[in-house]
Amino acid sequence: MKNYKNVFIFDHPLIKHKIAILRDKKTGMKEFRELVEEITTVMTYESMRDVELVPVRVETPLETTTQYKVPEESVAIVPILRAGLGMVNGVHKVFPTARVGHIGMYRDEQTMLPQEYYCKLPDGIEKKTVFLVDPMLATGGSMCDALDALVKRGCKKIKIMSIIAAPEGIAKVAERYPDIPVYVSTLDRGLNENCYILPGLGDAGDRLFGTK
Ligand code: PRP
Ligand code: URA
Repeated sequence: MKNYKNVFIFDHPLIKHKIAILRDKKTGMKEFRELVEEITTVMTYESMRDVELVPVRVETPLETTTQYKVPEESVAIVPILRAGLGMVNGVHKVFPTARVGHIGMYRDEQTMLPQEYYCKLPDGIEKKTVFLVDPMLATGGSMCDALDALVKRGCKKIKIMSIIAAPEGIAKVAERYPDIPVYVSTLDRGLNENCYILPGLGDAGDRLFGTK
């Protein structure tokens, strides 16, 4: 895969460990959901290394000091339905007051092209740092369409987080939106004839919600 300046692939051994369990077809729904949440929390910390802090005065039991905090209300989370929902709590662990927007997409099973069926975003989202989350970045079609929707709404600071990505999906997003950072926990080999990621973990939505 080409080297893209804004694509960050985490290579942390503990994330690798968690993803090995996530991939295993014997891992049940509850553990799967918990792992997605946990990995997302770690990714959120890592992807916010560049966050701008504001000075605040804090009274410790001993004295008053200037400390630094993330401004309240500066973050929003937008999951791509359905599977992106599994990542929301993971970001909320770090930013409990983050507003949540929803973009509904499904891939047409014949054409593999994304179809948008829902979009509801919080007021003022264009001023926030938006975490656009979906555990699977396969062809990149759903992510690009979701990005189009956010950019059309005036969002300027977007961070993409996906747990597993295929090189095809990364290339599509990075070439269409070279300035938007893409954070990925692991890069897989490629796609099968049905555009599923290999080795992947199967259908993330079905595994999170027990629909199959
Ligand atoms: C999955 C996944 C992504 C999309 C990725 O959703 O959660 O949204 O596929 O594929 P792409 O990169 O090729 O667009 P799916 O369409 O299966 O819907 P679901 O989450 O409702 O199961
Ligand atoms: N969506 C999934 O849930 N899994 C894949 O491998 C590809 C798209």
